[in-house]
Amino acid sequence: MRRALVTGASSGIGEATARCLAERGYRVALLARRAERLAEVLDSLPGAGHLALRADVADEGQLAEAFETLAREFGGLELVVNNAGAGYRARVGELDVELVNRTLATNVTGPLLVARAALPLLRRGERPVLVNVASVVGRRGIPGQSVYSASKAALVSIGEALRLEWAREGIAVCTLSPGLTSTGFFDAQPNPARLADPDLARSDSARAVAEEVVALDVRPRAERVLRAKWRWLGVLSALAPRFADRMLAKRIGGDW
Ligand SMILES: NC(=O)c1ccc[n+]([C@@H]2O[C@H](COP(=O)([O-])OP(=O)(O)OC[C@H]3O[C@@H](n4cnc5c(N)ncnc54)[C@H](OP(=O)(O)O)[C@@H]3O)[C@@H](O)[C@H]2O)c1
Repeated sequence: MRRALVTGASSGIGEATARCLAERGYRVALLARRAERLAEVLDSLPGAGHLALRADVADEGQLAEAFETLAREFGGLELVVNNAGAGYRARVGELDVELVNRTLATNVTGPLLVARAALPLLRRGERPVLVNVASVVGRRGIPGQSVYSASKAALVSIGEALRLEWAREGIAVCTLSPGLTSTGFFDAQPNPARLADPDLARSDSARAVAEEVVALDVRPRAERVLRAKWRWLGVLSALAPRFADRMLAKRIGGDW
C-alpha cells in the first residue's frame, strides 16, 4: 500500500486527488486549515487508515505538529502532493502588501516547508515521489495576477532545484502545471477591485487534474503541463515577448 500526503485536500484538486488515490488503494493523509471540511472529506473516502491533519502550510509550528502525527501514524511516505495554494487578483498599482505576503507564504514558503518536513518520511518510502502543483501561469505571467503568477514561477523553479538536490536520494520530483480548472479557487481568492472572473466553460475538472497526479506517481516526469497552448506561450514569451503579449491579451479577453 502506497502512503500519500495531499496538502490542500479540503476542496478542489486536492480533494479530488485524495479521492482518486484512496480509490486506488493508497493510504492518504489530508492536510489543510478547515478542520470540518477535512473531516467531511475523510469520512467520504473509500478504504481505511486515512488521516486528517489541520495545519497552515506557511506556519512552521503547525506543520511540525502535523508531521509528528503523520510520522507516528504512517511511518513513511511514498507520495507527497504539494497542492495547497491560494490566488490573489489585483493590478500591481492596487496591491495590498499583507495579501502579497500571505499569497507568497502559502504558495512558495508553504511548499518549501512541506518538502523539508516530508524529506525524512520520503527517505523511508518505497520509490518516493514529490508532485508540486504549479500552474500554466508559472511560465507566463498574466495581468491582474502578477503575485499569483510569480508565486507559481517560484514553485516551478523550486521543482527544478529539488529535482537535482533529491536525485541522489532517489526521490522523483515532478512539476504539474494545470490550466484553468473548475474549483472554488477563484471564489476563494481576494479580488478587491472585482476584476473579471475567467470563463470556466472550457476548464478542466478537478478529477482530470487528480488523474494526472496519479499518473505522475506511476510514471514520474519532470514537468507536465496540462494545456499545450500555454506551454508554447511560455516558449514564445522568451523568444518574442511582445507578440506573446498580444496573443495572451486576445486569449484572456477583458480590457488588458
Ligand atoms: N483552479 C485553477 O484554475 C487552478 C489552475 C492551476 C493551478 N491551480 C492550483 O491548484 C491548487 C489547488 O487549487 P484548487 O483549484 O483546488 O482551489 P481550492 O479548491 O481553493 O483549493 C485550495 C486548497 O488549498 C488549501 N489551502 C489554501 N491555503 C492554505 C494554507 N495556507 N495552508 C494549508 N492549506 C491551504 C485550501 O484549504 P483550506 O482553506 O481548508 O486551508 C484548499 O484545500 C492550488 O495550488 C492552485 O494554485 C489551480
